[in-house]
Amino acid sequence: MSKLRESKSLKQNQRVAKNKAHLQHPLIRHRINEVKYNIDQILLGGFSPRRFCLMPFVNIILEPNGSVGLCRHKGTEHSLGNLQENTWQEIWNGEFAQRWRSEFLTGEVSICERETKDQGCNLCPQLGKMFPENPKELQVQMERPLRLTANFNGFCNLRCQMCDVWELPNGFYTEDNFWKPARETLFPHLKEIDMLSGEPFLQSDTFKLIDEVSALNPTCQWSITTNAHWKLSPKIKKALDKIQVKNLILSVDSFDPDTYHKIRKPGDLNRVLQTIESLRHYEKERIDRGLSPLHMNLNFLIQKDNWREIPQALSFCLDRNIHPFITFCYRPQEHSLLELKTTKRRQILEHLLKTLTWDEICLSHRVLSPLIDSLPPLDKALALDTMKQTKNAYEMEHPCD
Ligand SMILES: C[S@@+](CC[C@H](N)C(=O)[O-])C[C@H]1O[C@@H](n2cnc3c(N)ncnc32)[C@H](O)[C@@H]1O
Ligand code: SF4
Ligand code: SF4
Repeated sequence: MSKLRESKSLKQNQRVAKNKAHLQHPLIRHRINEVKYNIDQILLGGFSPRRFCLMPFVNIILEPNGSVGLCRHKGTEHSLGNLQENTWQEIWNGEFAQRWRSEFLTGEVSICERETKDQGCNLCPQLGKMFPENPKELQVQMERPLRLTANFNGFCNLRCQMCDVWELPNGFYTEDNFWKPARETLFPHLKEIDMLSGEPFLQSDTFKLIDEVSALNPTCQWSITTNAHWKLSPKIKKALDKIQVKNLILSVDSFDPDTYHKIRKPGDLNRVLQTIESLRHYEKERIDRGLSPLHMNLNFLIQKDNWREIPQALSFCLDRNIHPFITFCYRPQEHSLLELKTTKRRQILEHLLKTLTWDEICLSHRVLSPLIDSLPPLDKALALDTMKQTKNAYEMEHPCD
């Protein structure tokens, strides 16, 4: 065999091995089943998976400045009202919330048109389990939220280039305007808490919320999103010991120390990698003590500085049994790939489609979809054709997948 053919066949074998490792990884298999379950629930409810999302029927988000929303994916600016003027109950069933739900009930989606089309966040596997047994309970007015996204304070130890949350205020939520009423009207009924904020593990409100809710509602499931730019201290372990962790979501965005430092400024990648290792040890200990796993996910937000790192991010995660979540930066525009000239976007897409394996393509659909969508019709057709060929080659290699 010639050297070139030998190296080509070696590359092909490596690609096959990589494909197997990624799409057949138990975490990915499990996630695909969860998405399927959510889709089944949507269909059973008589809705279309392309035009329905349960989020605004079950979730409320409280922002550091008192602003109230229904979904974290819409960003901090998507406000439905403010606790300085209204109660959360008034906002929960206010005019905007009703319109949002009505769009999903009728399938005429405008508020979340882009998200349902490009991001597929409406199919979020987390949501399947929140469906009511009787879909008729889904109405424009809902009794109360079952899920709280707690974004209480802006305080953070990093100042990421694409984030504005660290600039938001601190200390808005007081005993009178939140904690006291929440103990009666909110905490006992919650099925899930989704903790965000600036950096949750550096804020006393996080520890307070864990103490209060775990005492009142011990079966509540927690998702916590963190920069992991801290040391896993006995205080943090003690707090985590009190709760059932649905997901611990680590936001990393680069595995190159300089790029990490630039995006997540003035962060130190080593600090984060050490914390991830400590969390993996702590998870083992937890499971041995009969507590829930941490179900770690890793958010990797693709932007101008890091779009080449997709394969590395996927391998880092799957090698460590961490679920990879490759997402796309739309805002602010200056960091988004969508701000680049058409020629540059075309080059990036071509590079990705040429170098990514089919499994990497599948796990990067949130990036490829808006890129393809942003190009003229001929480029779109070419991109879809290239993807089809990569898929066909994969299917020939893995006929049973
Ligand atoms: C605001 S942070 C708060 C939690 C924590 N400090 C962290 O970084 O994970 C929550 C999530 O928002 C993401 N994020 C920040 N800026 C974003 C943007 N412009 N577009 C999309 N996601 C963004 C972060 O990467 C992170 O995963
Ligand atoms: S479609 Fe996406 S952005 Fe819209 S409510 Fe659902 S999860 Fe949120
Ligand atoms: S660590 Fe999180 S909250 Fe802090 S600046 Fe970065 S993305 Fe924003």
